[in-house]
Amino acid sequence: MATALVTGGTSGIGKAFATELAERGYDLVLVARDASRLDEVAIELRDRFGREVETLRADLAVRDDLDPIIDRLSDAARPVDVLVNNAGFGLNASLLAEDVAIQERAMDVMCTAVLILSGAAGRAMKARGQGIIVNVSSVSAWIIKGNYSAIKRWVLTFTQALALELDGTGVQATAVCPGWVKTELHERAGVARPRLPGWAWVDASEVARCALDAAAAGKTIAVPTRKWRAAVWFLEHCPQALSRAVSSRITKSRRSDG
Ligand SMILES: NC(=O)c1ccc[n+]([C@@H]2O[C@H](COP(=O)([O-])OP(=O)(O)OC[C@H]3O[C@@H](n4cnc5c(N)ncnc54)[C@H](OP(=O)(O)O)[C@@H]3O)[C@@H](O)[C@H]2O)c1
Repeated sequence: MATALVTGGTSGIGKAFATELAERGYDLVLVARDASRLDEVAIELRDRFGREVETLRADLAVRDDLDPIIDRLSDAARPVDVLVNNAGFGLNASLLAEDVAIQERAMDVMCTAVLILSGAAGRAMKARGQGIIVNVSSVSAWIIKGNYSAIKRWVLTFTQALALELDGTGVQATAVCPGWVKTELHERAGVARPRLPGWAWVDASEVARCALDAAAAGKTIAVPTRKWRAAVWFLEHCPQALSRAVSSRITKSRRSDG
């Protein structure tokens, strides 16, 4: 039986990945901080799909907490076939703030942990000649919106580099770049959900399906929905001044939101 490990698999996009993977026949390893919620989701998915569901309680911002996850990914007797680096959170902090603790935490969870866990999974998968690593980026990689955009651009570039390094090994690395998704992210970051046209909102289960299908097809970048693919194409090809103007409007509107 194939196994998938999903970080942040208890809520939002991560839970959608866990559900989609269980539906596709994978046993699961779920990683998050909240132990009781991990248990709840594990019971729900076991009952719904009859799969094995392990849980690992870890704060991905704490370096020592990564060790049991690295061990699980490296365990040749219990191979992990799919890794989804999804855990993360929204950032609503000024780049000029004196206290950068939240920025450091964001980079630990959404960059350093992704780097370390991708490396551990990549080594084990390369030795077996197969496997999939999905890293959750965002369309924010193309919209300049504080450190969150820089982090999501890092995830995108890192995954492209990883895919190149793994080329020909049988292991696929894919970055999925969703538009806005209705999850707990905005509430947890203490920001109101932005007022956006309907098309800009993407369903979490569509994000998971699009990412897993793209990885299976050997694609390095997955952008869910046709409209977002068109928007990303435009942001990629339009003059820099225009994409800066779009980003500036978004940054100013967020500042006046408080
Ligand atoms: N929502 C959007 O509009 C959107 C759009 C594009 C990309 N994304 C990306 O999608 C990913 C998932 O976000 P979401 O919207 O699904 O948010 P969410 O509903 O708040 O879920 C976040 C998940 O990550 C876990 N998590 C957070 N911090 C963690 C830490 N330090 N250590 C371990 N686990 C942690 C949470 O569980 P615990 O709290 O129990 O740890 C939870 O399971 C993030 O990388 C985000 O940047 C979101």
